[in-house]
Amino acid sequence: MPAMTSTAAVEPLFLRACRGERTERTPIWMMRQAGRYLPSYRAVRSKASFLEMCRTPELACEVTLQPIDQFGFDAAILFSDILVTLPPMGLEVAFPEKGPVIAEPVRDRAAIDRLVVPDPVAELPYVMEAVRQIRAGLGGRAPLIGFAGAPFTLVTYAVEGGGSKDYVNTKQLLFGDPRAAHALLEKMADTVAAYLAAQVEAGAQAVQLFDSWAGILSPRDFEEYALRWAKHVIAKLRAHPGVAAARVPIIYFVNGCAPYLDSYATSGADMLGVDWRIDLATVRARVGAKVALQGNLDPGALFLEPDALRVRVEDVLAQGGGVGHVFNLGHGVTPPTNPEHVRVMVETVKARHWSHAA
Ligand code: CP3
Repeated sequence: MPAMTSTAAVEPLFLRACRGERTERTPIWMMRQAGRYLPSYRAVRSKASFLEMCRTPELACEVTLQPIDQFGFDAAILFSDILVTLPPMGLEVAFPEKGPVIAEPVRDRAAIDRLVVPDPVAELPYVMEAVRQIRAGLGGRAPLIGFAGAPFTLVTYAVEGGGSKDYVNTKQLLFGDPRAAHALLEKMADTVAAYLAAQVEAGAQAVQLFDSWAGILSPRDFEEYALRWAKHVIAKLRAHPGVAAARVPIIYFVNGCAPYLDSYATSGADMLGVDWRIDLATVRARVGAKVALQGNLDPGALFLEPDALRVRVEDVLAQGGGVGHVFNLGHGVTPPTNPEHVRVMVETVKARHWSHAA
């Protein structure tokens, strides 16, 4: 069969599910699927630092493809990090073993005013080159997801200087100087919107915004500080000709979304990521049929024995119902996970066929 007609004829399952369609089976990928749980990732990582891997397109391409080759996931995700957008803004980031560190965090108006909104194509050329190489390496086997941090989550890193238990510096900024907080959020949002548009122009076929720490906010503050600026990014992306023309699905993931479902449903994203603290069926009942859902197996469930794991996977599949659902974990896979259990999860998802197939 000529390759050109066969790839043009059928849209990948993942993209169809993102658009809310019924699919003959539920597509699956996994957050952090290119990571330390994989021996083949650790082999590459033993020879290069994490940042070197991100900045070397050949290495980023190699590890992006590993989980596709080994497990047959239905989507690939660019190997990079949400924090790569900070250095071009004026904030250096280091990645020691314990997690990212920003040596000079941003805590006041003057520091916020010094940050710039960079040109992502000029400042992050290695990301765009990685996207191009990955698309070529995939050869149509799976669509490629680009990603960025959502404005609020990036602000937590910029202000805390890394991860945090209580986010007290972030809350000091939000409640002590809300105007400065919004000025910082706006710079993050404009940076991220341009960055994601550039990834799409380089070849990303869907994009995900990671709001990993928006769950620390009260419902009203979620709307004011996280959702508002995620909407700003989504609206800017929708207005971008390349994104609109290719109907690139936009995914918004909030870790700890349960308290905010009504407002979450208004984000403007095509698909909402759901963590494991709430049942997918409950989310579906609350947000309606207009938006697709992605999730939501507890990453910890991968520590179950295979038989018990299969039961949990089937439960998530049944709640998703094969309509506008992409199977995923509720957050990233953890390093001690046994890759054979990942295989069990993928095989279980792929074995479940829906009789409603269009
Ligand atoms: O999903 C994928 O396979 C793509 C790659 C990816 C990474 N980071 C690679 C990574 C993606 C999508 C991310 C996003 C990211 N980075 C998020 C949002 C998702 C989430 O987990 O909430 C966040 C909060 C970060 C920031 C970050 N990067 C942290 C907190 C850490 C340290 C903790 C950890 O898990 O290692 C990183 C480092 C990081 N990012 C690694 C990987 C593979 C480990 C680096 C190493 O090999 O030492």
